[in-house]
Amino acid sequence: MRIGILTAGGDCPGINATIRGVCKTAINHYGMEVVGIHSGFQGLLDIDVENFTDNSLSGLLNQGGTVLGTSREKPFKKTIATSDVNKPELIKQNIKNLGLDCIVCIGGNGTQKTAAKFAAMGVNIVSVPKTIDNDIWGTDFSFGFDSAVSIATDAIDRLHSTASSHKRVMVIEVMGHKAGWIALYSGMAGGGDVILLPEIPYQMSAVSETIMNRIKRGKSYSIVVVAEGIQTDGSRRAAEYIAQQIETETGLETRETVLGYIQRGGSPTPFDRNLSTRMGGHATELIANGQFGRMIALVGDDITSIPLEEVAGKLNSVTEDHDLVVQGRRMGVCFG
Ligand code: F6P
Repeated sequence: MRIGILTAGGDCPGINATIRGVCKTAINHYGMEVVGIHSGFQGLLDIDVENFTDNSLSGLLNQGGTVLGTSREKPFKKTIATSDVNKPELIKQNIKNLGLDCIVCIGGNGTQKTAAKFAAMGVNIVSVPKTIDNDIWGTDFSFGFDSAVSIATDAIDRLHSTASSHKRVMVIEVMGHKAGWIALYSGMAGGGDVILLPEIPYQMSAVSETIMNRIKRGKSYSIVVVAEGIQTDGSRRAAEYIAQQIETETGLETRETVLGYIQRGGSPTPFDRNLSTRMGGHATELIANGQFGRMIALVGDDITSIPLEEVAGKLNSVTEDHDLVVQGRRMGVCFG
């Protein structure tokens, strides 16, 4: 068999490990040919590809980013500029012309939605969930998430010493798009006193009260972890908005840090490396067995797969009954 592989959407640690897992399994175990497709779905429009050999894959396991490059090209999205081109049909034809029996798509929610539409057109697709946000429905974790949480937790740890030295309130904004998973996991791992998530509405009065009560108990500083997607007045970034509100309401010196793209950079954690390897290998096994139109998933301790049409358009959001939220509340963490 001859398979194509592409990476689409935001980059994150672990993509290269997944490419390695798919391709080394395909070449070494199943004797397949592998074609790397550059820049996500754009590479199928431009026929921008390269033949992968075992040598192309060395050094990928711990390398951040994606050697294939990525893009946020959405072939099914109609734009005035390209209204005369039927991108999905062009891609389907190019896949045929390239002699590809299947496409492995590594990507986030947008990519899963696109993959489901191509599967419905009869294109053989297997997808692997990828995102630091961990907001893809159907899998307990996506690779990239553990690495982002590790980076964010290290940053929060560092903020404790400067907050303590200056007796300040430090607000840190982490990524996550519309989900609060990175804020929840890094906030709890980093000892956040206040953790604000898009999924749990907050009152500034509760935030300020928590901080003032800490002062009364002799705690001279507080750490506030906010997800980028929380509700604000829309005038500025979440961290700036929350820091300004705290300083106004409490009179305490408050500073903010926006962690940004650092959460998407660098080498994957060992957990993400192994999750990437497991998911990549399982994707190739599905292809060898002729099972298409499915997304690889981690459910409990098992690597499995679910139909793509079940995933598209859904979101994996934090719930109030998640045990990190329940346990955090019991320990005095304010979720707003
Ligand atoms: O989906 C990953 C992510 O980093 C989100 O957390 C963030 O909101 C978004 O991508 C940023 O998108 P871009 O890389 O296009 O600026």
